[in-house]
Amino acid sequence: MQRKMELNQVYALAQPGLSEVETTFAQLIDSQEEFPEMQKMLRQVLVGGKVMRPMLTLLAGMFYDYDLKVLQPMAASTELMHIATLVHDDAIDSADCRRGRPTINAVWGVDLAILAGDFLFARAGEMAARTGSIRVVELFSQTLGIIARGEVKQALASFKLDQTFEQYIERVAAKTAALFTLSTVSGGILSHAPENSVRILHDYGYNLGIAFQIVDDILDFVGNAKDVGKPVGADLAQGTVTLPAQKLLQRYPKDNPLMAIARKEDLDNNIKKVIEMVRNSDIIDECYKLAEDYCCLACRDLMKLPAKPPSEALMTLVDYVIKRNK
Ligand code: IPE
Ligand code: IPE
Ligand code: MG
Ligand code: MG
Repeated sequence: MQRKMELNQVYALAQPGLSEVETTFAQLIDSQEEFPEMQKMLRQVLVGGKVMRPMLTLLAGMFYDYDLKVLQPMAASTELMHIATLVHDDAIDSADCRRGRPTINAVWGVDLAILAGDFLFARAGEMAARTGSIRVVELFSQTLGIIARGEVKQALASFKLDQTFEQYIERVAAKTAALFTLSTVSGGILSHAPENSVRILHDYGYNLGIAFQIVDDILDFVGNAKDVGKPVGADLAQGTVTLPAQKLLQRYPKDNPLMAIARKEDLDNNIKKVIEMVRNSDIIDECYKLAEDYCCLACRDLMKLPAKPPSEALMTLVDYVIKRNK
């Protein structure tokens, strides 16, 4: 078993790049000086996240030719793309709260949230272009396409119970793992990693991303709204059938409040019942077990990467993804 570091040491390792990402965000806000309302919207969303994706780009970029000049814009790009997807996701989901703060749609309405999200996507693309790597820019665009496709699939599947486990994983891979993969792969490419190392970083990002979303879906059932900074029980309210709900349906295929939810009957009451039933079962343990399996896959070849501190940091993040409560 490889030695790990503490989470604060991981943040410390990535800190030079993370500080520059913060500076870039401050500059982005400053650049809208003549447009105070846009500045307000940007201030509302550009802070308070766990900065997982830029951290992955920066750590993945530490194994070979570590060059902050190209890694930093890409780290900013992955976080901007992430925030843009959240702004749109919250507009679609009518979510009022994110990172413990009111969402753009809650304050300014859905129309402005869509436009502000587009603005953030545009800036994310600009930052990706600043790396000067056509390969990275192409991956950026492909990733955005994959995420959009995943979100469309999720929207089309809402309040539908006849979904398979494979469809769940496919959706999670698209909406979350794709961006984790872009984050690690771009770090590899921009630091001139050999192709077999890029593949290891790819597999790490992909599997960690799936584990991350499984845990997000778990926290929607057992998390504390204050900790996660967003409402819990929200997935069912939006009709999103995640892994815990799928498992409950398998266990009780006949008499199950999920059927009433699918018919949109007495939603509040039936959602409470489903959450109760999931909490009183071993479903959450099973879901964690699956997330751990993906974490093992994420780590499988990490030891083959050359540098020590970043690989220890990536190992620590794997642990964190499982243990996190926010
Ligand atoms: C939330 O991502 C959306 C998912 C993919 C589950 P994070 O949990 O990384 O959100 P922030 O950036 O820390 O707010
Ligand atoms: C996040 O998915 C959206 C994307 C990854 C595009 P969720 O809907 O699960 O995220 P939260 O729970 O709202 O943060
Ligand atoms: Mg959501
Ligand atoms: Mg969620």
